[in-house]
Amino acid sequence: MKSRIAEDYNATAGIYDMRYREEQGLKIGFLLNRVRLKDGDTVIDAGCGTGLLLEAVSGRAKTWLVGLDSSIGMLQEARRKGVEADLVLGDIESMPFRDCVADAVFSVSVIQLADDPGRAVSEIRRITKAGGTIAISYLKSAGIECPQAAGIRAAVHASETMKDIFITGFRED
Ligand SMILES: C[S@@+](CC[C@H](N)C(=O)[O-])C[C@H]1O[C@@H](n2cnc3c(N)ncnc32)[C@H](O)[C@@H]1O
Repeated sequence: MKSRIAEDYNATAGIYDMRYREEQGLKIGFLLNRVRLKDGDTVIDAGCGTGLLLEAVSGRAKTWLVGLDSSIGMLQEARRKGVEADLVLGDIESMPFRDCVADAVFSVSVIQLADDPGRAVSEIRRITKAGGTIAISYLKSAGIECPQAAGIRAAVHASETMKDIFITGFRED
């Protein structure tokens, strides 16, 4: 299943931005308007795709940006566009990052693709520093239960116009 998802994104990476830049841009703006980033922060985007969120963040603060995705094609497209971030091929359910490494972790429209969305959220919590920012969205149409992870204090935001449910908050301990 995971390799099939990666293959599908590999095959469509070149037209992803043309199709989805506007839709994803609204979701990314929604999340960025609800979090605070500081110069010097380490920011990880889990399931970064072609780097739309990384591009938006680099225009706002002088952060160290890292994008992780399971599709090499999406990462190559991000690189081709000149996204200024370290790009890592990996799985959101088992990320190759140390515990408590990021000041902020984002994940936009990704966790519904995971085998276990709850595990993806636990991984996001694991790599976030205590007190660090967590900002996630996932597709309503996937019909998954809102994933809970112990140790995250978060608010859930529904939007009438956007296709995602949004979760913003911070790691408690
Ligand atoms: C709908 S796209 C969203 C991309 C980006 N976050 C955005 O907002 O434009 C979903 C992304 O999740 C990635 N993805 C799917 N399953 C993944 C997994 N298990 N680990 C990491 N990335 C995954 C896909 O390769 C794809 O780039």
